[in-house]
Amino acid sequence: MKRFLDRYYRYIRPFRFLYGWAKDGYTKMQCSKRAEEWKAKSFRGAKLDICGGRNPLNPQEYLNVDFVALPKVDLVFDLREKFPIPDGVIEEVFSAATLEHFRKPHVHHILREFHRILKPGGLLRVSTPDIEAIAKGLLAGDDLDVINQHFFGKFKSNETEDLDLHKWMYPAGKMIEVLQEMGFTDVRRIPMDLGLHDPKYNYLIRAVKA
Ligand SMILES: C[S@@+](CC[C@H](N)C(=O)[O-])C[C@H]1O[C@@H](n2cnc3c(N)ncnc32)[C@H](O)[C@@H]1O
Repeated sequence: MKRFLDRYYRYIRPFRFLYGWAKDGYTKMQCSKRAEEWKAKSFRGAKLDICGGRNPLNPQEYLNVDFVALPKVDLVFDLREKFPIPDGVIEEVFSAATLEHFRKPHVHHILREFHRILKPGGLLRVSTPDIEAIAKGLLAGDDLDVINQHFFGKFKSNETEDLDLHKWMYPAGKMIEVLQEMGFTDVRRIPMDLGLHDPKYNYLIRAVKA
């Protein structure tokens, strides 16, 4: 197969887009099938990657929820609305690089929705940029590109700027307090070992629904 590809690559090359198109189409088909199967079970026992977007943590284990119907996204909805998921059914909610994209009232709405959909004993893991570490990094003279990217979000394009900008961030201690006030228990910071984002400027907190 490899020899065939090497030999005819110059003829195949102009049609590479077909491969990407077929692969995305196939992934989308699998995602919507998976989402339908979980919906039929009222999502009982599902694990969600909230805003996995283009960069889901583990697509085999988690349903990827996002606003944009990207190829790897299973469920499309706007987190600022009530989630289309019943109360107390979700096994685990994971969310990375998400909360900072919302205004404070939306952050609180989203955290309350996490609490509502989780089953008793269900696990929440939430990772977001650490405004305290970023401020310390700035004062310590760290790379300004890195500092700005964490404060304000990474610029990708004018079209997606509204989704990419950072709008509100809590330091880890305050996030722990907010989660406790919402009724989560065993709330604590754990090592940022996801391999997704810079552990120097992002934290990971786990909490359990009582
Ligand atoms: C920075 S990406 C995070 C991707 C991935 N979780 C990671 O850790 O790299 C933020 C995601 O949030 C999604 N998003 C932004 N606003 C949203 C909204 N109102 N509802 C649902 N998803 C939203 C974007 O489409 C994007 O995929």
